[in-house]
Amino acid sequence: MTDDDPIAAFYTRFPYPWREPADEEGRFQWILPGCLPAIAHHVYGGVLPQGRPLRILVAGGGTGDAVVGLGGWLRRLGLEGQIDYLDLSERSCAIARKRAAALGLDTVRFEVGAIETLADRAGGIYDYIDLCGVLNHVPDPATALAALSHALAPGGGIGVMAYGGLGRSGVYEAQAALGMLGVDAGRPDGIALARAFVQGLPGTNWLLRNPSFANVAGADDMELADVLLNPRDRAFSTDDLDDLMQGAGLAIRSFAPRLLYDPARALREPALRTAAAALDRRARWRLAELIQGSCNKHVLYAVKPGGDAPDTPDADPAERLLDDPRTLLVPAGIHPPSLATSLKAEPEARRGVRIQVGSRSMSVGLLASDLDLAILSAIDGPTRVGTVLGRRDVDPGTAMAALRALQRRLTDLGALYVMAG
Ligand SMILES: C[S@@+](CC[C@H](N)C(=O)[O-])C[C@H]1O[C@@H](n2cnc3c(N)ncnc32)[C@H](O)[C@@H]1O
Repeated sequence: MTDDDPIAAFYTRFPYPWREPADEEGRFQWILPGCLPAIAHHVYGGVLPQGRPLRILVAGGGTGDAVVGLGGWLRRLGLEGQIDYLDLSERSCAIARKRAAALGLDTVRFEVGAIETLADRAGGIYDYIDLCGVLNHVPDPATALAALSHALAPGGGIGVMAYGGLGRSGVYEAQAALGMLGVDAGRPDGIALARAFVQGLPGTNWLLRNPSFANVAGADDMELADVLLNPRDRAFSTDDLDDLMQGAGLAIRSFAPRLLYDPARALREPALRTAAAALDRRARWRLAELIQGSCNKHVLYAVKPGGDAPDTPDADPAERLLDDPRTLLVPAGIHPPSLATSLKAEPEARRGVRIQVGSRSMSVGLLASDLDLAILSAIDGPTRVGTVLGRRDVDPGTAMAALRALQRRLTDLGALYVMAG
């Protein structure tokens, strides 16, 4: 990592993501991985470190989405926290700083610099590190992750968004073609030429045939540059990411949303489902990626050993909290009472929910009984388990079993998280 890294120049010319001044906190609260209830659930088994401010590093923070999102969550949940921001791009840092100031997030510490130099900086040790869209662009992912892992407290965790290779089919071929034509981000006419190139592509081209990129010709300059002219752009499979995390001494707790990494949902034939169920979880993640084909961004949470949360790779440690009536159920990106109303209008077998996965909106079947609908109706914002169950005139054991099953399904969708109250 040198001072003249082309990535620093690229993100100074094209700060990412491009945000208008009107964009604010609320819009970014559900972006994964930097959503605090999701972090609490997946990294800490629902129980955030107590008795001191939460120490957060937003590494490669860009124009500040995670700073704004996480700062907003700390405020909303009444938690104390210290957010540090680090990025190579001075211009991105200036935008992030301005956005934080506009929201009154005045304790965030901003620094321009490289992740790889973290050990030489004053920042210290963190409970959570956000690494969204950065691993794709560093010179050596293993070196960057080693530096970050070193800066994590025992039991702390990292939330990663990294490009998925299969879901970016067509991108690297288009980048290679532009490279052969001498079109790069350093040229003043680079954007215009890249746009003209995409507009002229035949309909058979894989970039245009990939639904995630079919409209790239109409993207703004920053987005177009990020997809086609990025001087260092790498994508990963779930296996690559598992290897990288293990190499840095970190263990993946979960990919998110979990549903996308469960191959069974796409396998109807019982013999195929049985074969999938016999695989270990790493193989199941990879199989799901191969079957789905469209995952262009992987999100995962990985932890450094040594924390208090039970280390149960195949179970969700947050689920044990449902026994405590003070536990909070935090809906994410859905309003459960409205969902209950719209589900009620459908016959039971056709009930479903729309969820947002990155920039895509997906429709997922949700078999919901009348008891499930009553439970959903009670979760109007972050709500305690005791409040949800207290209103039921059904047997408590039956209501708890329904809540457990519903929570698991909604957490699989990234639509509900469990936090200690
Ligand atoms: C695609 S942007 C993502 C920004 C932000 N995390 C987000 O998701 O909105 C990648 C960012 O990583 C930064 N970056 C890349 N390599 C870096 C490194 N080695 N150290 C620090 N920042 C880096 C870039 O400057 C850029 O702002």
